[in-house]
Amino acid sequence: MSVKIAPSILSADFARLGEEVRAIDAAGADYIHIDVMDGHFVPNLTIGPAVVKALRPFTTKPFDVHLMIEPVDPYIPAFVEAGSDIVTLHAEATRHLDRSLQLIRSLGAKAGVSLNPATSEQVLTYVLDKIDLILVMSVNPGFGGQSFLPSALEKIAAIRRMVGDRPIDIEVDGGVTAANAADVREAGANVLVAGSAVFRTSDYRANIAALR
Ligand code: DX5
Ligand code: ZN
Repeated sequence: MSVKIAPSILSADFARLGEEVRAIDAAGADYIHIDVMDGHFVPNLTIGPAVVKALRPFTTKPFDVHLMIEPVDPYIPAFVEAGSDIVTLHAEATRHLDRSLQLIRSLGAKAGVSLNPATSEQVLTYVLDKIDLILVMSVNPGFGGQSFLPSALEKIAAIRRMVGDRPIDIEVDGGVTAANAADVREAGANVLVAGSAVFRTSDYRANIAALR
């Protein structure tokens, strides 16, 4: 299975975000991963819909928007209108996961569900037909540059068995490096998010290629 690389702009230079998005596009990014944090669901604050909208003209690649916010439903329309292609919310941040997923698709975007490290994949069982992407957190969300939690590998494998050949992306996020990318793929993931591993040096093309 071919792998997609989704650089997380959380590790980019925020003073030059548009140029950074253009640079990772040119360097071979498949998705542009945008981390949205609210200082409540996670202990950090980042980007809102106005920034997503401002970045939209800088690339035609899909915007893979990772919402780490609670509540989440009231903000979904603004992120879709801003140009998000995939909207991923946390299963832990919505009381009615089925309803939130239906809302995303009803607005014309792809629907993703993310699971924190301690959350079981069982929450996905009855909503598989409403999901386009499953995001397995391999760190506790909130910050870039943390170490990969090995328990994510077992969860990815369980999700791969659950998903079978349905057209659902299995994405892994947190601490992904060239050193563990092969393990993550072998476990069954087909989209790798990487922040520090892509932005650690100015040669984004080489860093993305190393992950592939
Ligand atoms: C963490 C974010 C990640 C983060 C990954 O809460 O969801 O997308 O930017 O950064 P690295 O690849 O540095 O762990
Ligand atoms: Zn993320």
